[in-house]
Amino acid sequence: MKFKEITRLTSPNQNIMPLSARVGEDNILYLGGISVPELVKKFESPLWVMCQETIEQSLKDILEGLSLYKGKSTACYAGKAFLCTAIVRLIDKYKFGLDVVSQGEMETARQANFAGPIFLHGNNKSDLELRSAIERNLIVVADNREDIEKLAQLRREAGLDQDSATEILLRIIPGIDLDTHDHIKTGHETSKFGIPLNKIDEMIELVASFKDAGLRLIGLHAHIGSQAMDIEPFAEVIEIFADLYQKVFEKFGFHMPHLDIGGGLGIAYTANDKPAALKDWTAFISRSMHKSFSDKRNLPLPHLSIEPGRCLVGTAGVTLYRVGRTKDLDKVSYLSVDGGMADNPRPITYQAKYTAAVANRMEPRPNKSKPWSIVGRYCESGDIIVEEAELDAEVGDLLAVFATGAYNFSMASNYNRTLRPTCIMVKDGRAEAIVEGETYQDLLARDKMPSWL
Ligand SMILES: Cc1ncc(COP(=O)(O)O)c(C=O)c1O
Repeated sequence: MKFKEITRLTSPNQNIMPLSARVGEDNILYLGGISVPELVKKFESPLWVMCQETIEQSLKDILEGLSLYKGKSTACYAGKAFLCTAIVRLIDKYKFGLDVVSQGEMETARQANFAGPIFLHGNNKSDLELRSAIERNLIVVADNREDIEKLAQLRREAGLDQDSATEILLRIIPGIDLDTHDHIKTGHETSKFGIPLNKIDEMIELVASFKDAGLRLIGLHAHIGSQAMDIEPFAEVIEIFADLYQKVFEKFGFHMPHLDIGGGLGIAYTANDKPAALKDWTAFISRSMHKSFSDKRNLPLPHLSIEPGRCLVGTAGVTLYRVGRTKDLDKVSYLSVDGGMADNPRPITYQAKYTAAVANRMEPRPNKSKPWSIVGRYCESGDIIVEEAELDAEVGDLLAVFATGAYNFSMASNYNRTLRPTCIMVKDGRAEAIVEGETYQDLLARDKMPSWL
C-alpha cells in the first residue's frame, strides 16, 4: 500500500494523530501499519488502539530535554493516565519511575515486575496502601498531617525503626492558578491536594519527630494541574520551590535532597490546541532549575523528578467506533456510535473537545460533508463525543476519535451495563490486545443475590 503524505509537527503531543497514522491510497486510515477496518474486523468495535511508536517517542523526548539537567533526575510516568502491565513494561524499558495512587496501580506494577522507583500519591491513602508502600520501599508523597502520623504508626506496628526508612515528599499547594479546566487544576490555593505553604514548617517538624520510626523527609512535591499548554507556570513553581528550599536550609540547616515538580503538559486534541513540545518542556524545566537553584541562590541541585501522564500516552490513543444510526433534526444532525461516555467520560466530565475522522473514507466525497454531532449510545443527553464535526459519514462507517490515550481507558465505566472494550497495541504491522475486552460473564461475575430475595 502506498500512503499519502501527512504533515506533522515534530513533537508527538503537538499532533492530533499518533505517529504511525497513515492514509493509504485506498483513502483508509492505517494505524501501526494495519488498516482500521482490519483492526475492527479482528477486535470488534468500540476499540481502544494504542500506538507504541508514539509512546516510545514521547518517552525519549521527555528524557532528551531532562538530560540537560546537571543534577540527578528521574522521569516518572503518572499511571493514572493509563495503566496496564504492557504500559508498565514499556516505561520500565526507558528507565522511567512510576507514580501510583492506589493498591490496584501498585499491583499492576508488581505484576509487570516493574524495577524502577515508585511514588505513592493520594489525598486519602488507605492503611493497606501505606503498608504496601512501607513493605515495597515506595516513596510516599504526603498530602496531609494524617498521612505522616499514619505512616509512623504503621511502621512502629511492623516493628520498623530508623534502621530502615520510608522516604517522604511533602506535597505543597504552591498557589498557582493554571489556565485549564477547573476540575483539573490542582495548584490553586483552595486545592483539595497538598499542604498550604504556611504549614510546611509544621509538617517538617512532624516528620522529624518520627525519626525513631524511620520517617525521612527528602523534599517537596507539587503538581500544578493538567493539560497545560504553556511552560511558564513551571518556572514560576520552580521559583517558589527554590525559595522554600532556601528557607528550609536557613531554618532547619539541611538541604532537602529531592524535588518533584509534577506533570501536567498538555496535548493537542483539536487544531486549536498548541501545547509546548515535550523536549522543550523538560529542557525548560532543567534550565529553570539551574537558574532558580544554582545561579540565583547558590543552592545545591536536588534530585529532580517529574511525573507526566497525559503527554506520554494521550496522542498514542485512537478510539474506533462504528456508526449505527443517523438522525436529522431541524437544527442538528446526530451520528450515533457504538460507544461513548463509558469508554470516554472526558467530554461529559469536563467538556473536553476531540477530533474525529471517518476512518474508511478519510477524504470526503464531493459535496457529501456536513456538520454532525457525534453522540454516544448511553442514556445521557450529555453523552456527546464531538459537538460538531464536518464529515462525510453514513451508517456502517468506522469513526476514529483521536488523542484518546489518556484518561479514557483509566476512567471508563460499565454505565448502562455495557462492556469495556478491548485495548490493543499496534506497531509495525502487528496488533495485539494489551487488555482483553470484557465479556458478559465478567460483567455478571460479581453480582450476588441476597438470601432474602
Ligand atoms: C500528582 C499528580 N501527578 C501527575 C499527574 C499527571 O498529570 P498529567 O496527566 O496532566 O501529566 C497528576 C494528574 O492528575 C497528578 O495528580
